[in-house]
Amino acid sequence: MDRRLAVFFSLLAISLHLLPLPGDASTFTITNNCDYTVWPGILSNAGVAPLSTTGFSLQKGESKPIALPSGWGGRFWGRTLCSTDKKTGQFTCLTGDCGSGKIECSGAGALPPATLAEFTLDGSGGMDFYDVSLVDGYNVAMLVAPRGGSGPNCTFTGCVNDLNGACPSELRVMSEGEESAVACKSACGKFNSPQYCCSGTYGSPDTCKPSSYSLAFKKACPRAYSYAYDDKSSTFTCKGSPDYTITFCPSPTTSQKASDEEGTPSTSSPSSNVIMNSSMVYEGALDMSSSPSTYNHVLCSPLIAGGVATIIAIWRLSQLF
Ligand SMILES: *[C@@H]1O[C@H](CO)[C@@H](O)[C@H](O)[C@H]1NC(C)=O
Ligand SMILES: *[C@@H]1O[C@H](CO)[C@@H](O)[C@H](O)[C@H]1NC(C)=O
Repeated sequence: MDRRLAVFFSLLAISLHLLPLPGDASTFTITNNCDYTVWPGILSNAGVAPLSTTGFSLQKGESKPIALPSGWGGRFWGRTLCSTDKKTGQFTCLTGDCGSGKIECSGAGALPPATLAEFTLDGSGGMDFYDVSLVDGYNVAMLVAPRGGSGPNCTFTGCVNDLNGACPSELRVMSEGEESAVACKSACGKFNSPQYCCSGTYGSPDTCKPSSYSLAFKKACPRAYSYAYDDKSSTFTCKGSPDYTITFCPSPTTSQKASDEEGTPSTSSPSSNVIMNSSMVYEGALDMSSSPSTYNHVLCSPLIAGGVATIIAIWRLSQLF
C-alpha cells in the first residue's frame, strides 16, 4: 500500500477507535411503548448544566433522542394522564406532575409516586452509574438499557411489570373516576415514618431493613430500588460512556392500561393484578434478544472489533517508523 495512504488509514483507525475522549456526549433515546401518551420529565442534578429540554410529550410508539454532555447527572420519569386546563392554560398530570404548569419542567422534579431512572455519567472511576428507583413509588413501567459500554454489570435494569394493578390497596392512587389504579405509593410516601423512610434512628443500612411493602416491590421488580438502602442489587455501572435507551412500558403485555387521554375506561386484564415472580419479570425486556448472554455478546462485539482495529493500526504505524 502507498505509504501516505497507509499512514492516513492508520491514523483514521486510531482516531475512530481510541475515542470516546472525555467531553463526548452520550445519546439517550427515550421511547414510549405504552398504548397511551407519556410526557417524560427530566431533572438535572444541582450544579449540572440543564439540558435543551426538561419535558416533552411522546405519543404511543414515538421515540426522541437527547444528547447528554459528559458528566451529566439527573433523573428521567414519565408523566401520565396529562391535560391542559382550557380556562387557565395550566398543564397538569395525574401522575409524575412537576408542578410547572407547562410541558417543560424547568428545574422542577416529579411529585411522587413516580418511577425514576437516575444517572450519574462519568462518575467515580470514569464509570456511569444508573438505576431505576421505586423509592418514590411507581407510576409507569420503565426499562433502561445501555448500548455499548463494558463491565460486569453494564446491563439493562428497570421495572417492567405493572405495579399499578399489583399495588397493595392502601398504597394505590386511583384515577379520577376511581375505576383503576394509576400509580402506587411507596410505604415511605404513604406512611411517612422513619422506619419506612430510612430516616432518624433508621438512617443507616444497618438499621433500615426492607419492609413487607418494599419486599413486594422487589419481588415484582428485582433490579429496581425498592427502598433507600437497596444499592447492592439495584445500582448498575458501565465503562466506556455507552448510549442508553429508556423505554416506557417495555413489555406491552404488562403495560398499565390506565384511561387514555380520551377517557376510555381501563381494561386491565385479571393477570395484571397479580404480582409476578422474578423469573417472569424480564419476559418483555428480553424481547430484544433471546437471552442475557447473547445480549452481552452483541454489545461486546463492537468493542472487540475496535480493539482489533486499534492493534492493527498501531502495528502498521510501527512498520512505518
Ligand atoms: C454493580 O457494580 C457496582 C460497582 O462494582 C456495585 O457496587 C453494585 O453492587 C453492582 N450492582 C449489581 C446489581 O450487581
Ligand atoms: C414463578 O412463576 C412461574 C410461573 O407461574 C413458576 O413456574 C415458577 O416456579 C415461579 N418461580 C418462583 C421462584 O416462584
